[in-house]
Amino acid sequence: MGGKGIKIEGMKKRYGEGDTAAYALKDVDMDVAPGEVVGLIGPSGSGKSTLLKCLGAVIDPTEGRMMLGDEVIFDNGWKVKDLCALRRDKIGFVFQAPYLIPFLNVLDNVALLPMLAGLHNDEAREKAMELLTALDVQHRADAMPSRLSGGEQQRVAIARGLVNRPPVILADEPTAPLDSKRAMAVVRILNEMALKLQTAIIVVTHDEKIIPTFKRIYHIRDGVTHEEVGEGRSYK
Ligand SMILES: Nc1ncnc2c1ncn2[C@@H]1O[C@H](COP(=O)(O)OP(=O)(O)O)[C@@H](O)[C@H]1O
Ligand SMILES: [Mg+2]
Repeated sequence: MGGKGIKIEGMKKRYGEGDTAAYALKDVDMDVAPGEVVGLIGPSGSGKSTLLKCLGAVIDPTEGRMMLGDEVIFDNGWKVKDLCALRRDKIGFVFQAPYLIPFLNVLDNVALLPMLAGLHNDEAREKAMELLTALDVQHRADAMPSRLSGGEQQRVAIARGLVNRPPVILADEPTAPLDSKRAMAVVRILNEMALKLQTAIIVVTHDEKIIPTFKRIYHIRDGVTHEEVGEGRSYK
């Protein structure tokens, strides 16, 4: 599954038609290699959420090209037949508030996605346990989300984002509610998992604590991206 990377060329997104039409994305170029974690930074209203939604196939880009590895998935229109499968199997999301399902225990929160993808419950739970173990929260598998600390909840959310081994992960402010130590732990985990699973990870963030850790950063302003070499400071 992993080892693909994602590339975007000349992406535009227009909301509305005629007099009310406005471009939220005017010219977006991005290239994230397998195993790489890049930052996406921009002021409010610059197009970050729109870009993530286009990448996640939640909304349709208006123009441009998008490639997953060698496969062209969008070229002025979707080139994949099954968009549901694309969303479910190829793109993982990690949100700021972990949005864990309150009435499922930790294990089933993570196992739900592979179950929806068609795995038997036992296999899905086995897969979920593997990820919880990799993220060092396996001892909380039976707990309900409300019993977890903030850091534990975020690790479970990351496990859930990674459990289907998607080649691309979109993380929206994954460290916002965490203190410095926990935030760095999340960055370390994202980098380790990127390398281990050859995932391409895009992290939208305002978090001054973690911005210096990126080796590459995409700035977005008024729907246009600019690439910058980051400090790539150690997160260990
Ligand atoms: N559904 C929508 N319909 C019309 N305009 C939208 C919609 N969603 C976002 N926009 C506009 O697109 C621009 C980019 O918004 P957004 O992608 O949410 O930026 P960010 O996440 O960086 O704050 C803003 O000007 C916003 O008002
Ligand atoms: Mg936003």
